[in-house]
Amino acid sequence: MTQLRVGIIGSGGIARGVHIPNYQKIEGVEVVACADAFEETAKSCAEQFGINQWFTDYNEMLREVKLDIVSVCTPNYLHKDPTIAALNAGVHVMCEKPIAMNAQEGREMVEAAKKSGQKLAMGLMTRQQSDVQALKRAIDCGELGEIYFGKCHALRRRGIPGWGVFGEKDKQGGGPLIDIGVHILDTTLYLMGHPKPVAVSGQTYTKFGTRKDVLGLMGQWNTETFTVEDFAVGLIRFDNGATLEIESSFAANIEHDVMDVKLLGDQGGCSLHPLKIYTEKHRTLYDITPVFLPRASSHEQNIKKFVEAIRNGTEVPVPGEQGLMVTEILDALYRSAEEGREVRLDA
Ligand SMILES: NC(=O)c1ccc[n+]([C@@H]2O[C@H](COP(=O)([O-])OP(=O)(O)OC[C@H]3O[C@@H](n4cnc5c(N)ncnc54)[C@H](O)[C@@H]3O)[C@@H](O)[C@H]2O)c1
Repeated sequence: MTQLRVGIIGSGGIARGVHIPNYQKIEGVEVVACADAFEETAKSCAEQFGINQWFTDYNEMLREVKLDIVSVCTPNYLHKDPTIAALNAGVHVMCEKPIAMNAQEGREMVEAAKKSGQKLAMGLMTRQQSDVQALKRAIDCGELGEIYFGKCHALRRRGIPGWGVFGEKDKQGGGPLIDIGVHILDTTLYLMGHPKPVAVSGQTYTKFGTRKDVLGLMGQWNTETFTVEDFAVGLIRFDNGATLEIESSFAANIEHDVMDVKLLGDQGGCSLHPLKIYTEKHRTLYDITPVFLPRASSHEQNIKKFVEAIRNGTEVPVPGEQGLMVTEILDALYRSAEEGREVRLDA
């Protein structure tokens, strides 16, 4: 079995909660180095996980340590540079979501992966959930027929993050669309078979984030530096005639948080969370629900499949190109909201 050496860039929450422990579960994979801009963070991460070397400069790590894989776990505004540096150093990369601040940065990353011959995978793990995988198998077998409409929601009632840079447009790129909307959009595009998006119409609102009188159920955020939307809505048209509606919020006056996909096909429809397929068989209407779905961590599956793809020379679970498609749609939604018109992606 090929032994693989992993380096981490950005040794904060997602690196410690997801990437490092999941690499350490895989036989023959060793996390050998970690980097963080803050010395204390890099050092404490190395101590916590028994990592041999730590750095405050990721370029130094790339120069000094022989690596096969790098996980890029820095904030959004620092996805592009470390990813390209690692690819150019001959290392496969798992980059956290979203691919970058905008599609232009994402295109440069995808191009760098092509040129270097290294794999670029995304930390978009929700499609590894067992209900998504079960639904995908049903869709691939024709259970829904031709899918012509989708609706996806990533909605929080009062969930503006009280930590990190989630409210700062210059560091994050956007609000809930970029933070949680990316997950549900990626899952929906995967289920719909990645039709080509051709036009997008969107609107964004900031109704809660700049107010001091709003309840914070995910900690207290800085209302002074809040420059992103807290609700976004969009309609995406695809080249096969299908349409998709997306809604995403950090805060909204709704009953409860929603993370869901609904699809309409000419043979069946479905809801994702919980999984239910609505169909007609022999002139009778049926609702189909799974009796058992295995419990599996989607983060763990994403990293496991990424490592398998490197070992087997096969496609990574979420290729950079598909992460880029999500961000191209988000860019167009933001542009449409700014300009108050539909934005073509095929022009
Ligand atoms: N897939 C998911 O479900 C998921 C969940 C949470 C976060 N994320 C993504 O992970 C990324 C990081 O989020 P987080 O919650 O771990 O943030 P975090 O702030 O906890 O960690 C980021 C780390 O990067 C470090 N850093 C900043 N500049 C650096 C530099 N130049 N070189 C090296 N390190 C540097 C910071 O010091 C910090 O320790 C974001 O892009 C976020 O969108 C994904």
